[in-house]
Amino acid sequence: MNPVTPVDYEDEIRRLKREMNAVILAHYYQEDDIQDIADFIGDSLQLAQEAAKTSADVIVFCGVRFMAEGAKILNPEKQVLLPDLAAGCSLETSCPPAPFKKFRDEHPDHLVVTYINCSAAIKALSDIIVTSSNAEKIINQLPRDQKIIFAPDKFLGAYLNKKTGRDMRLWNGTCLVHERFSERELIKLKTAHPKAHVIAHPECPEELLRHADFIGSTSALLKFTIAHPGEEFLVLTEAGIIHQMEKHSPGSRFYPVPSALDGGACVACNTCPYMKMNTMEKLYLSMRDRTPELTLTPAEITAAKKPLVRMLEMSK
Ligand code: 13P
Ligand code: SF4
Repeated sequence: MNPVTPVDYEDEIRRLKREMNAVILAHYYQEDDIQDIADFIGDSLQLAQEAAKTSADVIVFCGVRFMAEGAKILNPEKQVLLPDLAAGCSLETSCPPAPFKKFRDEHPDHLVVTYINCSAAIKALSDIIVTSSNAEKIINQLPRDQKIIFAPDKFLGAYLNKKTGRDMRLWNGTCLVHERFSERELIKLKTAHPKAHVIAHPECPEELLRHADFIGSTSALLKFTIAHPGEEFLVLTEAGIIHQMEKHSPGSRFYPVPSALDGGACVACNTCPYMKMNTMEKLYLSMRDRTPELTLTPAEITAAKKPLVRMLEMSK
């Protein structure tokens, strides 16, 4: 029997990338090795912007499905690969199209501002898409008396209501990673590290956000840590981002806040199970076999494109 030659995923991925003229885009919540091999790492907005301007023939999206859908909507002619098509998002699941359409139709005088963490079908029912990086800026561009529906993240919506002084009507969705952080564990960590900055993603509930010294999207949190070298940080977002924080600021200390579900026992509980479905092996196989491919019908693309392009224009 011939011994099986192990595959060097890094070498093979790099070789396939050249052969296919592919670009690998990765979100900050991906596994460290995927972040390290990606051509571009970013938050949801940066990845959408990068997808909109790439000249590659194939986009390999290391993130979750709604992100890959965004890349496909902006590049209908390109092949978009997602290493695991089952990589979903609890915010997407919390907002199915039929009840959302009913909710929207019950409020015809409202503009629908939707967080990018939703399906293409929900995008098609929206007026403007936003991400955590540009939501405040975009909402502030709308007339003060404009009634607004914000979906699907109720915690991000509540945070934005507070920041913008609006009274947006909120959909009842949550991110399963950010809603779970334990306030008790955070207070214990604050006591142990009194000089640490508490940095939080706005998908967290208000009882966590009220402890935060700085609130922002993943890219904003990273920027904040880079601006404070050699300091300590208690991190209230998915722990994958800590890889980039440590790379940029080797002299700083980062403490991931544990989830409430595990009583502080398990730091892995603050990782996104969907983001972590992508692995180096699946990334390699998706490129070798050119599958799984993310596809949308031309009708789905046309319907979802307008609010997404509006977002890109309004965030300039
Ligand atoms: P950002 O990439 O906008 O920071 O959002 C975080 C997130 O939860 C992505 O799924
Ligand atoms: Fe969705 Fe939360 Fe995972 Fe982001 S971290 S993909 S919002 S479940």
